[in-house]
Amino acid sequence: MSQQSAGGVPVLVLKEGSNRSRGREAQHTNIEAARIVAEAVKSSLGPKGMDKMLVDSFGDVTITSDGRTILDEMDIQHPAAKMMLEVAKTQDNEAGDGTTTAVIISGELLNKAQELIERNVHPTIIIDGYKKASEKALEVLENIAIKVDPTTTDYPKKVAMTSMASKLVADHREYLADIAVKAILAVAEKDGDKYKADVDDVKVEKKPGESVRDTRLIQGIVLDKEVAHSGMPKRVERAKIALLDCPLEIEKTEFDAKINIESPEQMEGFLKQEEDMLRDMVEKVAKTGANVLLCEKGIDDMAQHFLARKGILAVRRNKKSDMEKLAKATGGKIVTNLDSITSADLGYAALVEERKIGDDKMTFIEGCKHPKAVTILIRGGTQRIVDEAERSIHDALCVVRDVVEEPKIVAGGGAPELEVSRNLKKYAETLPGREQLAVRAYAEALEAVPIALTENAGLDPIDILSELRARHEKGEVWAGIEVNNGKAQDMGKAGVYEPLAVKKQIIKSATEASTMILKIDDVIAAGKMKTPPTPPGGMGGPGGPGGYPGMGEY
Ligand SMILES: Nc1ncnc2c1ncn2[C@@H]1O[C@H](COP(=O)(O)OP(=O)(O)OP(=O)(O)O)[C@@H](O)[C@H]1O
Ligand SMILES: [Mg+2]
Repeated sequence: MSQQSAGGVPVLVLKEGSNRSRGREAQHTNIEAARIVAEAVKSSLGPKGMDKMLVDSFGDVTITSDGRTILDEMDIQHPAAKMMLEVAKTQDNEAGDGTTTAVIISGELLNKAQELIERNVHPTIIIDGYKKASEKALEVLENIAIKVDPTTTDYPKKVAMTSMASKLVADHREYLADIAVKAILAVAEKDGDKYKADVDDVKVEKKPGESVRDTRLIQGIVLDKEVAHSGMPKRVERAKIALLDCPLEIEKTEFDAKINIESPEQMEGFLKQEEDMLRDMVEKVAKTGANVLLCEKGIDDMAQHFLARKGILAVRRNKKSDMEKLAKATGGKIVTNLDSITSADLGYAALVEERKIGDDKMTFIEGCKHPKAVTILIRGGTQRIVDEAERSIHDALCVVRDVVEEPKIVAGGGAPELEVSRNLKKYAETLPGREQLAVRAYAEALEAVPIALTENAGLDPIDILSELRARHEKGEVWAGIEVNNGKAQDMGKAGVYEPLAVKKQIIKSATEASTMILKIDDVIAAGKMKTPPTPPGGMGGPGGPGGYPGMGEY
């Protein structure tokens, strides 16, 4: 960047090759980039939304309608468009569902903002108006939400079914919703007069083969590993379990040492010594009374052989996260130093067994000391189906968790968005001039949800929207579009419910992202790492190197 100083000598501030765009131009490009992203996910909203097939640079194919996954795989470059990915990530982390909706609303908020900017409303006014509107929106959502009992399975199941209605596994949603609800209720804990549940406490394993219908909830932990040695037992009842995070191997020295062996006896001596050390290690485990050994690291062939002879079932190279779950589930302690292991460190499970699942063998640890340990074992025709089933079950687990933790729900199908929109339009009338425009714009942006749902179902949004608006005006809070029969109706009666937490988070994430993008009026991007060709006349000569491709000079 150069600027003429009083003496006419250009002052260089930015490095050569940097890009800069400012003012309206910067705003316009940012808004445009973010809108393109929103447009890309729009067609995947709702049960009638389409799936996307994404191919990464290795040629791997993912088929999904999950908002976050789509954006993740799109490998977005533009900085403002990347912020839309952030919206999806925040939404996913906080609420677990509603990522597509959050991105669509962000895009529409920016779209409306662009129109206002063109009518000379300053971005600061728009930002203030959007913030006021979002506070009001949260208030309205709280007011219309329905309180439910989190300990009965009824509503959590409906919520889980809604979240899966828009996924590839929709046909099996009732079956999978049951599993998700049981899993979350199993890990939920009472905390004062509320409940807390951590989705990570539900272990999810997947194995292609059979069908989605064969997905099971297992009361215990399933490891995607087989028993280490063929001579070991494959089934141990009343298992006393040692959990190790050190290897049962002789450590190799870090430096190369040469040992000259001169006779076969010496050779034998060395091997014997190694064997003795491994035997000693196994002896330490066996002495505790353990009949199962689950190890995070490797187990030497020789040690496996000794373990087998002692009748100990061993599984090696378990994931660290699995070891932690195992410790919690079996009540055992993960031991780092073999010398200090005692029987007090052992965990307990009623049954440890290796079973054949599809073409592989997996190890099941059931009837654990701590009954809260559960695993969902996902099955499905192909790898792609189990992958998408895993994403869908993740959403379902999250929405059930949302309802268990904050037992309030709203109906779906665009009904809450329309009701909030109606209230915001009224609220706008109480505000002065330009702020009113911004709040109105926010209200209109929310209608993008019922519009997209209707369009994706191949219906005409104009007729349906005017009918829905009229019904809301008459006090039908839950009037929405039921896309399966293509009619405007009470979404509560249609049984389409969603957690209040998801809808609130959508408002928060979308407002945050859109106002953040609106606040930017200057984009300064460092040049690429590749050194640009030195312009004739040497570095930084008068007139500058022309290093702002497509952005003009400032
Ligand atoms: N039967 C139905 N009729 C109308 N709308 C429905 C129906 N079932 C679900 N919906 C609506 O579909 C929307 C959810 O769609 P979808 O799951 O594709 O997107 P998302 O939840 O925003 O994002 P993602 O699931 O990708 O994180 C919600 O607005 C929900 O109310
Ligand atoms: Mg969803």
